[in-house]
Amino acid sequence: MQFHILTLFPEMVENGLQTSILGRAIQKGLIGIHAVNIRDYTQDKHNKVDDYPYGGGAGMLMQAQPVYDAWKAVAKPAEGKKPVRVLFMSPQGKTFSQEMARELAQEKELIFLCGHYEGIDERVIEEIVTDPVSIGDYVLTGGELPAMVMIDAISRMVPGVLKNEDSGVTESFQENLLEYPQYTRPAVWHDREVPPVLLTGHHKNIAEWRQAQSLEETKAKRPDLYASYLDKK
Ligand code: ADE
Repeated sequence: MQFHILTLFPEMVENGLQTSILGRAIQKGLIGIHAVNIRDYTQDKHNKVDDYPYGGGAGMLMQAQPVYDAWKAVAKPAEGKKPVRVLFMSPQGKTFSQEMARELAQEKELIFLCGHYEGIDERVIEEIVTDPVSIGDYVLTGGELPAMVMIDAISRMVPGVLKNEDSGVTESFQENLLEYPQYTRPAVWHDREVPPVLLTGHHKNIAEWRQAQSLEETKAKRPDLYASYLDKK
């Protein structure tokens, strides 16, 4: 799966996604990170990519031209193929979720558009964006961190990226339940014992205990998720 990221800070995105599980997925060719520097596409002789907003107001806005040309450079719609989706990182977008990550992982290619400064000229957003997405109700200085968050969540849904094929599917948020608590050695630490059932080797009992824990944790910590779990059952 190929991720193209249109940004003014390509090194931030490239460096941030090279480590650990995603780094290995890149090495294995399961995912590709292609950061495109929007500044490379400016037609301004001083390499400028931003300007003052019409009507006044604080800060600078990214201009339409360099964003549009950077997008055109990566979005070559193949004959008869549907155009590549363009995800615009914005607090005004639909809130990102596990369900969205799972759905987006079905695509072969995605384009992420990251704004910086006070935003991007609305006209180019209208022209190229297919999916505005927010990662939560807070405002960040740019779209790079949201794009990295989304790429991480989407990549782990791509077959082969996680070592244990199962774990992307079984853990938190599958069926709208939180994950059960987990323990490793030693069996007693600071006078705290690992729940005895986990030491029995009895797989059926362990599975039942974990399911019960998931339900309890979700009910206590995330009643909203628990309600949608009951709805969907
Ligand atoms: N850009 C700035 N804040 C953002 C957020 N919360 N989600 C996505 N993109 C953003």
